[in-house]
Amino acid sequence: MEIKTAEFVISNTDVKKCPSGNIPEYAFIGRSNVGKSSLINMLTNRNKLAMTSSKPGKTLLINHFMINNEWYLVDLPGYGFAQIGKSGQQKLKQIIESYLLQRESLTNVFLLIDCRHEPQKIDIAFMEWLGENGVPFSIVFTKADKLSNRKLQENVAAYKEHLAESWEELPPIFISSAEKKTGREEILNYIEEINNELKVKS
Ligand code: GTP
Ligand code: MG
Repeated sequence: MEIKTAEFVISNTDVKKCPSGNIPEYAFIGRSNVGKSSLINMLTNRNKLAMTSSKPGKTLLINHFMINNEWYLVDLPGYGFAQIGKSGQQKLKQIIESYLLQRESLTNVFLLIDCRHEPQKIDIAFMEWLGENGVPFSIVFTKADKLSNRKLQENVAAYKEHLAESWEELPPIFISSAEKKTGREEILNYIEEINNELKVKS
């Protein structure tokens, strides 16, 4: 898919204030600092569309971007960010969960996982929550440039094995590097395919 236009639309903390209309929507989620905003900039080929930071907890709002006047891309706050305290985390959790449960036009969630780490409880629990609530998702392993190809393949295989213990069918899996711009075509083509299917249905 070619990205012709990418525009910021609105930021807020309330799912009810998200843009109206029946436009397919793709959200990016994962632990704080996993690289959600960087991936969004890489996909859209815009350096500063989504705000990034080396410090966790940069994105604290639901951010809508309109792509090609055709679909929404959504940058969500990260979960598991200890420094904002228990009540802060609880508030973010509530924002994220009500968005994921109530947003009718939400088409797919990309769950980002840092490819360097072993399966983390918080991510596994989040996936289970998505499954229980019927929210369709895919996995994106981020920061692939930080590992050798061999180590990357090993980690991804180990992660898949871990998932296969509790999931009958694995979700689509992508590997990305915002630094090296890898995974861009695959993720954008996947979005395009879904958008085309939705057009046929409507
Ligand atoms: P929050 O908004 O705080 O939840 O973080 P986020 O998930 O949006 O992460 P962000 O995109 O702000 O990136 C966090 C840090 O990781 C930044 O210092 C990025 O430069 C770095 N980073 C993100 N993606 C990559 C990548 O693919 N490769 C490398 N080497 N660094 C990356
Ligand atoms: Mg962010």
